[in-house]
Amino acid sequence: MKVAQIKEVDEGEEVELRCMVLKSKDGRRYKVFDRTGEIWVECKDKLVEGEAYKLWGIFKGGVVFVDRVERIENPKAEEFLPVSSTIEEDERRFWKVVDLIEDHKLKGFVRFIFEPLWESFKKGVAAKKYHHAYIGGLLQHTANVAEIVYNLAIYYNLRRDLAVAGALFHDLGKIWEFNLKPKFEHDPHYSKFGHIFLASYHIKSKSLEYGLPKDLANEIVHIILSHHGEYSKGSPVSPKTPEALLVHLVDNLDAQMNHMLVSKDEKDR
Ligand SMILES: [Fe+2]
Ligand SMILES: [Fe+2]
Repeated sequence: MKVAQIKEVDEGEEVELRCMVLKSKDGRRYKVFDRTGEIWVECKDKLVEGEAYKLWGIFKGGVVFVDRVERIENPKAEEFLPVSSTIEEDERRFWKVVDLIEDHKLKGFVRFIFEPLWESFKKGVAAKKYHHAYIGGLLQHTANVAEIVYNLAIYYNLRRDLAVAGALFHDLGKIWEFNLKPKFEHDPHYSKFGHIFLASYHIKSKSLEYGLPKDLANEIVHIILSHHGEYSKGSPVSPKTPEALLVHLVDNLDAQMNHMLVSKDEKDR
């Protein structure tokens, strides 16, 4: 019997899987996943959503028929979910851009926001599927957007500190919008607000607590509110400053680029 990753399982093979349960159907069939993919299994024992198991069985007609089950105690989400291979490098890139903010008060505010949320932010995902859908994806996407925005703000002679702060905060709300367990899912409570509102509200209220000048705080909140570009894409307002337009365009660029590069990698594998 081979210890297999889900994407390697072949028809007729006896396998041992180490996986987490995503959902159940009819009380016997379960969709399970590991880092490499998802698969249906059929099992007489009851499996619990969000719990992890070792399963032994045979793969026939698209389903693993399980004959032995062992529960894995205290599973870590990271073991079963795709994880970015560049988290440490992305952390360095992120904080390097923060250091490039010249306004000391604003730089302090960026630290004031991110430091208490760092562990959640570092593990966060940028989307369920479309782009940067892996642990560390939110950090990677944010570092990319902030770096590119920094450089293009110089190119277009914009208010660089403002554009960079907006870029750093633009998707912060995703740490509340998405849950990691059992798999990247919208949080049933926070997803009713959406990440644009969540980040805008957080930054606006924390700016009052911190004492950030009101005009600057409002300009940053405008960047967050408008970063999806238009109402039909989830933004209540469209970009009304060049810094907001830049963050919106770079956000879109980085999301689309990641989507294409990851799809290409999967096809090449
Ligand atoms: Fe967004
Ligand atoms: Fe984004």
